Amino acid sequence: MNELVFPNINIEKLTRWTGDVSPLECIGIKDETHNVKSFTFKSTKDAWFQFYPGQHTTLFLKIDGNDVMRTYTIASSPTRPNTITITNKRMAEGVVTNWMHDSLKVGDCVDALDIGGSFSVALDKPKSKILFLSGGSGITPMLSMTRYFCDVSMDVDIAFVHNAQSEKDLISKEELDFYESSQRDFKRHYVCDIGSGSWLGPTGFLNHEMLIDLVPDFAEREIYCCGPEPYMQNVKKILSLTDYDMNFYHQESFDIESSTAQKNMAINADLPEHKVTESEINEYNVTLKKSGDVLPCGSNTSILVSIQKQGITVPFACSQGLCGTCRTKMLDGTVEMDAQGGLLKSHEQEGYILTCCSYPTSDIVLDL
Ligand code: FES
Repeated sequence: MNELVFPNINIEKLTRWTGDVSPLECIGIKDETHNVKSFTFKSTKDAWFQFYPGQHTTLFLKIDGNDVMRTYTIASSPTRPNTITITNKRMAEGVVTNWMHDSLKVGDCVDALDIGGSFSVALDKPKSKILFLSGGSGITPMLSMTRYFCDVSMDVDIAFVHNAQSEKDLISKEELDFYESSQRDFKRHYVCDIGSGSWLGPTGFLNHEMLIDLVPDFAEREIYCCGPEPYMQNVKKILSLTDYDMNFYHQESFDIESSTAQKNMAINADLPEHKVTESEINEYNVTLKKSGDVLPCGSNTSILVSIQKQGITVPFACSQGLCGTCRTKMLDGTVEMDAQGGLLKSHEQEGYILTCCSYPTSDIVLDL
């Protein structure tokens, strides 16, 4: 029988993990529902994970000979820093997620980007009353934040409303039930799109009456919302019927693995604003070295959008500097980049930029 190997829990003596430090080794796979699995990873160099609950990392995988990247929220809590867990759902066109479900094994290693993102209670200074609203696998950042709150015994009042397709799609139900029975101010509610024989809870899409019924004091709460785009639009529509102050509303605004996200053009996306005063707007040339194309790009337009405007297809996913999918080497020129954790420092030093959040400040040449 093998001897137990205990991880080093003296954090001060450990290196903090970044994508540069080591690949991730899969050390556990758990079925959450019939089509959702959790994958737990540790650093191959015994490094520890520092992050805010609700943040994400981007995995680099080789699938059928192609390099692919996908960004996943970390579902585990930073209070358990020796591992991170990614929980994802098999999807009809989810190339990466389906590969993970079918082919990733315990002991396999994958490369990943640094942990980043701005969707986290720990980055805001939220009210002491919080409402988590999640749809489907959008529950993962809420799980991380809930686990974090419970681990640190914070004096916070949480209402958690989770929408799933049906009872058999409820993720981490037992755990949330346990928190309701063991935590002082924690109430969870489930809503299923489709009722079934044994389901006695609310059925259908979340609506105004249901929200008032489940969380009568929702207007007093800081709201964190994550789910498919239609779910979040529905939530915003419900809130627009009330006098809820949207300054207290936060949502995870990307849904990278969905086919819609992958087929959409960044031109059509709701992109973060890049501030340039009218008098400073200049027009530059973006040269794509491999194809020889030369495109115009204003200093207030992202390079990705200017490329797509010419009908040229290049990889991208989040359009917000988060996931790293649009990473491209810049061979000449200068840009202003509003990256939000999607680029490793080492890659930046090597001359890579994220085209989705880079704005030219001179003529530039890209390795495309
Ligand atoms: S598309 Fe995600 S960082 Fe650019």
